[in-house]
Amino acid sequence: MSTILVINGPNLNLLGQRETHIYGSQTLEDINAGLQTQAEKAGLDIDFVQSNAEHEIVEHIHQAGKKKVGLIIINAASLTHTSIALRDALLGVKIPFIEVHISNVYSREEFRKHSYLSDIAAGCIVGLGVQGYELALQAAIRQLTSSKNQD
Ligand code: DQA
Repeated sequence: MSTILVINGPNLNLLGQRETHIYGSQTLEDINAGLQTQAEKAGLDIDFVQSNAEHEIVEHIHQAGKKKVGLIIINAASLTHTSIALRDALLGVKIPFIEVHISNVYSREEFRKHSYLSDIAAGCIVGLGVQGYELALQAAIRQLTSSKNQD
């Protein structure tokens, strides 16, 4: 049975206190607890990492390539708009990933409209609040448990 890895990038450790009018009042711990329950119900393993450092996220992606990670759910936060290193790491490990953004990045500043990840993602969920993580996990569960994907 493969594992799902949820990666959160810079400043998402501040969820619940950071710009709550944009990102809501749930903490990352609240969100991850909900995802843990959702994954357990589906009989899948799930791991969580958050880092404020680009090189640490690159390392986590490399480690995922060595472990049995079947799918990555990633909110790369600001690194979405800047990081060729993250793009290359995701391409390098060839693990399908779903890109999540809590806010609607297309209705905000111009610089948030470009993502280094979207064109190589299996799918993108933006602007649906923290529910985006649940929806991404629902899609991941469906992909990993459908009969043609089972090992
Ligand atoms: C974000 C959007 C990014 O532009 C921003 O830098 C974040 C959070 C989101 O989830 O809406 O930190 O990824």
